[in-house]
Amino acid sequence: MTAQLREMRWWDIDRVLELEKDLFPEDAWSRGMFWSELAHARGPGASRRYVVALEDDQVVGYAGLAAQGAASDSGSEAVGDIQTIAVRRDQWGTGLGGELLTELLRAATAFECAEVMLECRVDNIRAQKLYERFGFEPIGFRRGYYQPGNVDALVMRLTAKPDSGSTGGSTSEQGTEING
Ligand SMILES: CC(C)(COP(=O)(O)OP(=O)(O)OC[C@H]1O[C@@H](n2cnc3c(N)ncnc32)[C@H](O)[C@@H]1OP(=O)(O)O)[C@@H](O)C(=O)NCCC(=O)NCCS
Repeated sequence: MTAQLREMRWWDIDRVLELEKDLFPEDAWSRGMFWSELAHARGPGASRRYVVALEDDQVVGYAGLAAQGAASDSGSEAVGDIQTIAVRRDQWGTGLGGELLTELLRAATAFECAEVMLECRVDNIRAQKLYERFGFEPIGFRRGYYQPGNVDALVMRLTAKPDSGSTGGSTSEQGTEING
């Protein structure tokens, strides 16, 4: 695995959109949605972490996390949300999805998230296996969450380990402070 991860910037959006249309043909994000997310990724009060994976200067994957209710704002605990995660088809099964997820969980720890949530199509078994490997557990469904196909979402949650305060429950992944 040779892809390098770095922060997603606005000049990556065109290449990200190409992958987005291929990987999420029914509900691809628009250019404006990516712009809006990246607008919250820098500066005081930043609440997003978006990364791209680059190989030979090509975008082969990307992922993003949003943190809501940062502890310093409200006194309540922050919650992370996996907004998106995607890997170019020819790289599936190489571990890149795991690398991207590891980076998002690292960010969740930095945002002091007590838990991380995500929604996943019920028929997306590959993604669910990836999340389970990192300790996410299914907690419910959102009926008809994905439109226009009217596909249900499985809601999954990862809770911070009580002893470390970091987000992550799995011990099977290596090389990340989240589990360490
Ligand atoms: C989901 C996705 C990000 C995973 O990326 P990836 O690089 O393949 O991820 P990894 O290689 O780290 O792990 C894939 C895991 O999927 C599972 N998997 C692998 N092959 C599989 C198969 N044929 N069927 C079902 N699950 C499979 C395994 O758990 C595997 O982990 P393992 O190799 O340790 O057993 C990628 O498939 C993707 O971009 N899909 C399209 C976009 C998408 O669905 N995003 C998630 C939205 S919720």
